Amino acid sequence: MTTTALTNIASLVTNDPAQGDGSRLGIIEDAALVIEDGKVAWTGPTASAPATDEHHDARGRAAIPGFVDSHSHLLFAGDRTQEFNARMEGRAYTAGGIRTTVRATREASDEALAATLAAYLREMRAQGTTTAETKSGYGLSVADEARALRVAAGQLDEVTFLGAHVVAPEYADDPDGYTALVAGEMLDACAPYARWVDVFCEEGAFDADQSRAILTAGKAKGLIPKVHANQLSYGPGVQLAVELEAASADHCTHLTEDDVEALAQGRTVATLLPGCEFSTRSPYPDARRLLAAGATVALSTDCNPGSSFTSSMPFCVALAVREMNMTPDEALWSATAGGARALRRDDIGRLSPGAHADLVLLDAPSHVHLAYRPGVPLVSEVWQRGARVG
Ligand code: NIG
Ligand code: FE
Repeated sequence: MTTTALTNIASLVTNDPAQGDGSRLGIIEDAALVIEDGKVAWTGPTASAPATDEHHDARGRAAIPGFVDSHSHLLFAGDRTQEFNARMEGRAYTAGGIRTTVRATREASDEALAATLAAYLREMRAQGTTTAETKSGYGLSVADEARALRVAAGQLDEVTFLGAHVVAPEYADDPDGYTALVAGEMLDACAPYARWVDVFCEEGAFDADQSRAILTAGKAKGLIPKVHANQLSYGPGVQLAVELEAASADHCTHLTEDDVEALAQGRTVATLLPGCEFSTRSPYPDARRLLAAGATVALSTDCNPGSSFTSSMPFCVALAVREMNMTPDEALWSATAGGARALRRDDIGRLSPGAHADLVLLDAPSHVHLAYRPGVPLVSEVWQRGARVG
């Protein structure tokens, strides 16, 4: 088995508190990392690195775990430039725009959907994302949801069934009928391609009872719940997510004290999506309140054509630091280890022995520069499963 050493890493974020400086990020300075069989085999000071077959000089750059983007919507066609323009002139964001994308997506061929997905995944990887999740939700019929998920399953592991994004136009007068379809025939057709089931629990989308019915049916099929919760207003989404032991409650923009307490006590990760508040000119979630209560916080792009058309985790890290008062360390942890928790994975989001060798070399001496130098393309090299891919 070939072994490869990356040496002269100015600062290596391992996300393993047992390593390096003992902080939550487990930072090792002047570090080396040895890869064997696609996994991290050893980390420590360059001076004590073991002999390896191959050698790659990081030349004083920083290394971080590859970003884990645990929430995106990449199965769509077209864009919503007009809606964005209208919003920048003062119109508010609503869930209604989703139907524009549904029309375009239904018209697209499987090949076109696959090509678009591949292009956005490439875009993500070029910005340091080594694991991405993506959702359906722009098909809203049995056939259109199932084929979107089939396309997704051909390209990535973390696939989410979001038939309950909004009520399909054909069921505008019968939301309970649509709920029954999603929890029945549509779920049956989609479950084989998905690991997760998600619901947009919000006024104008699905209420608590409808959401519970769909998530419970998904669980019975072996899918793990996630919830689009409390994005546009206060509501039952977060409590429902915790009640059903969802892996994550995503958005978390409008939270009561009880919601924060539930997240702090339960095992549901709070996934914050600051690209969404940026693009909709909405108030950001209160990350400090969640962190102070002891909740686990993840950061993700929510990449989609409506509310957050960015594929850039570095941009989200910079937003989290500047706009949500997270420290650079907290934001980096949330964008890597936090994302891994939101996907219930312990083989990614850290760079310690046994984890996949998914990492990013930054054109900077430390990860702090991601927030300190916003908008600058600092991602220098991307390694996935021990091989250089970007
Ligand atoms: O996470 N909130 C629901 N879904 C997406 C937006 C989808 C859209 O506007 O197309 C979100 O923000
Ligand atoms: Fe979303």
